[in-house]
Amino acid sequence: MADARTTHHGSEPIKFAYWVPNVSGGLVISDIEQRTGWDIGYNRKLAQIAEAAGFEYALTQIRFTAGYGAENQHESVAFSHALLAATERLKVIAAILPGPWNPTLAAKQIATINNLTEGRVAINLVSGWFSGEFRAIGEPWLDHDERYRRSEEFIRALRGIWTEDSFTFAGDFYRYRNYSLKPKPIDPQPEIFQGGSSRAARDMAARVSDWYFTNGNTPENVAKQVDDVQGKAAAEGRRVKIGVNAFAVARPTEAEARAVVDEIIAKANPEAVNAFGHEVKNAGKASPEGEGNWAKSSFEDLVQYNDGFKTNLIGTPRQIAERILDLKDAGVDLVLLGFLHFQEEVEFFGREVIPLVRALEAERGRSRAAA
Ligand SMILES: Cc1cc2nc3c(=O)[nH]c(=O)nc-3n(C[C@H](O)[C@H](O)[C@H](O)COP(=O)(O)O)c2cc1C
Repeated sequence: MADARTTHHGSEPIKFAYWVPNVSGGLVISDIEQRTGWDIGYNRKLAQIAEAAGFEYALTQIRFTAGYGAENQHESVAFSHALLAATERLKVIAAILPGPWNPTLAAKQIATINNLTEGRVAINLVSGWFSGEFRAIGEPWLDHDERYRRSEEFIRALRGIWTEDSFTFAGDFYRYRNYSLKPKPIDPQPEIFQGGSSRAARDMAARVSDWYFTNGNTPENVAKQVDDVQGKAAAEGRRVKIGVNAFAVARPTEAEARAVVDEIIAKANPEAVNAFGHEVKNAGKASPEGEGNWAKSSFEDLVQYNDGFKTNLIGTPRQIAERILDLKDAGVDLVLLGFLHFQEEVEFFGREVIPLVRALEAERGRSRAAA
């Protein structure tokens, strides 16, 4: 922990991203009222609100089939482009799943969107958790660590295609011979985020990803992951940026915020939550060390798809801002946020929380300079 605070602390202002609700049902598996739409009209307006509120990134989701409260799912790359077209500064991270995508198609699609949007598109390379989805679309379901071996090759191939002419690559999953993509992406090059935090995921992050995205967690537990990833990355002469998920509930009093979370959990759909829990734990079983994203998730944690309650951004704007600074001290560069009522709450977060975070960052900067 001490190491994380001293060696991995980024000096830049912490960044904010939000989960794009391009999938129906919101970000919690609950029958509580959610004033969140999954259609493009709602999402265009949300992206504009987020951009004005101080969010730098938006993350789309990829799912090919329904399940666990997500009945409808718009495709991530197409949806990301629509959001980029509706905004001016926001960067949109398009989720890409190896299997349905190969690096050839992903490189071409993303290079074109990068050219059309002055470099505002990024990708989140996900590795798959839903075996039923793979079965439904006739894709082989590789075991856990094989999925990451494929993802790593995918990223190496993407970078090669984006930066080299006559790119040649002989992998176990992908092969290229004298391939020259034209046009290539313009600068800034598309950033590569990754979803997943098992040992295989961390090792991959250390070697090839620009960003490591992990499920919600406490600053102490995030710091342990940061130490691990950054230690391995340093051995490769790299630094990986760290993003952590959180479900934010900012209300004028802590009691009001807690009551919202209690209601979300009380109205959770137990069958869907348990089925989701079974699927994700099963997906990680083949990860030998049992440290995958949901290895230690309780029923309550699983009501939010990516353990977002654990990060505890639940309370008053000041409490939340202070906890964000604790995450920053643990080595976090970006907080990825989900909300119950996205448009209203992203606007509130930008107005009430982000300025407090910036004030605390400035305060800490001053006291560090004085020390
Ligand atoms: C922030 C974040 C976003 C993710 N988005 C998606 C997604 O859109 N689609 C998907 O199939 N998996 C998604 N995943 C799942 C991961 O790619 C990965 O399969 C999962 O986290 C299991 O990883 P692990 O057991 O190796 O830790 C996401 C994960 C994280 C942390």
